[in-house]
Amino acid sequence: MSKAVLVVGGAFGDEGKGKVISYLAVKDDVDVAVRGGVGPNAGHTVVCGGRTYRVRLIPSAFVNTRTRLLIGAGVVVNPQILLEEVDLTGVRGRLAVDYQTGVIEEEHIKQDRIGHLKEKIGTTGSGAGPANADRVLRKGKVAREIPVLQEFLTDVASEVNAALDEGKRVLVEGTQGTFLSLYHGTYPYVTSKDTTASAVCSDVGLGPLRVGEIVVVFKAYFTRVGEGPLEGELPTEEVAKRGWCEFGTVTGRMRRVAPFNFKLAKRACILNSATQIALTKIDVLFNCDAGVKRFEDLSNEAKSFVRKIEEETGVKVTLIGTGPNVEDMIDRRGEV
Ligand code: GTP
Ligand code: IMP
Ligand code: MG
Repeated sequence: MSKAVLVVGGAFGDEGKGKVISYLAVKDDVDVAVRGGVGPNAGHTVVCGGRTYRVRLIPSAFVNTRTRLLIGAGVVVNPQILLEEVDLTGVRGRLAVDYQTGVIEEEHIKQDRIGHLKEKIGTTGSGAGPANADRVLRKGKVAREIPVLQEFLTDVASEVNAALDEGKRVLVEGTQGTFLSLYHGTYPYVTSKDTTASAVCSDVGLGPLRVGEIVVVFKAYFTRVGEGPLEGELPTEEVAKRGWCEFGTVTGRMRRVAPFNFKLAKRACILNSATQIALTKIDVLFNCDAGVKRFEDLSNEAKSFVRKIEEETGVKVTLIGTGPNVEDMIDRRGEV
């Protein structure tokens, strides 16, 4: 019997989960990757083999061509986006969707692009929120009712639990971030579901005791798209001066930026019961650290920053991103 590794975002989404997950999929040669989280409001960037992929539904582990890819019942999918991504990534034959995964309809997208969802909350306009609302009202569609999804259907919970029983390596992918959680985030400026580790377990049909490692991902600074509080938010000119400009994968909106928030990081580690931290974009904070592969070779400033995160959160920073490519990663998991 084996235990799953679960990856979640520790901030407001866009922490670089796509990069961390794709690294783990390749490095640990993952057998099964299963995606929980909300839906195509997510946008993961995966840079691999000289190509940049932006995926909203397909598990970011697709870069390992032998990994079985699953989408859990708790997710809502847009069938059109799913099919486009199947073609983009060439995963037909190894991708499956749970019978009971929720479905985003045209009407949901329309509702998400008007009124308070657009004006007040600043949603991604992907229809995920209205689809989840209909689901709660027990009138939403599910995957087993959709003709174009028939070829992908499976019982995800059974597959994942059986894989663990057989001792296989299973990676569970969360999306969004802890402070976008409907329950634990900055309500009402949040997404339409809980996004913490417990919710992601439920999304894919795993009991919490089946998870062995919980990797909470942070970026070296905090970003946020859409409305809602962002403590220490920097003015645009300062963001540009520091070279921290980012644009949303889904919406193209400029991301709001603040320095790393140690207090929120600690809270995210508690809410998710983090066993490890993955820290991305250290190379953007300290340019001289781009492409570094060993912790010892990082600048003193970068090392101090990592140690401070460990001291404040009480959790070891095991993975450190030093560039956008899958292989730009310092891996300290083997160290005692
Ligand atoms: P959501 O599910 O939407 O929250 O997305 P995400 O967490 O997968 O992050 P997203 O891909 O939206 O944004 C992260 C950005 O940082 C992408 O452009 C990545 O290519 C980039 N990135 C990730 N890790 C690193 C890193 O260590 N260094 C650099 N330079 N870029 C990185
Ligand atoms: P929704 O999830 O589209 O309803 O959007 C609700 C809020 O969550 C908005 O502020 C969005 O910008 C934010 N959001 C949702 N998904 C993501 C994501 O994957 N990355 C970053 N922000 C997100
Ligand atoms: Mg994103």
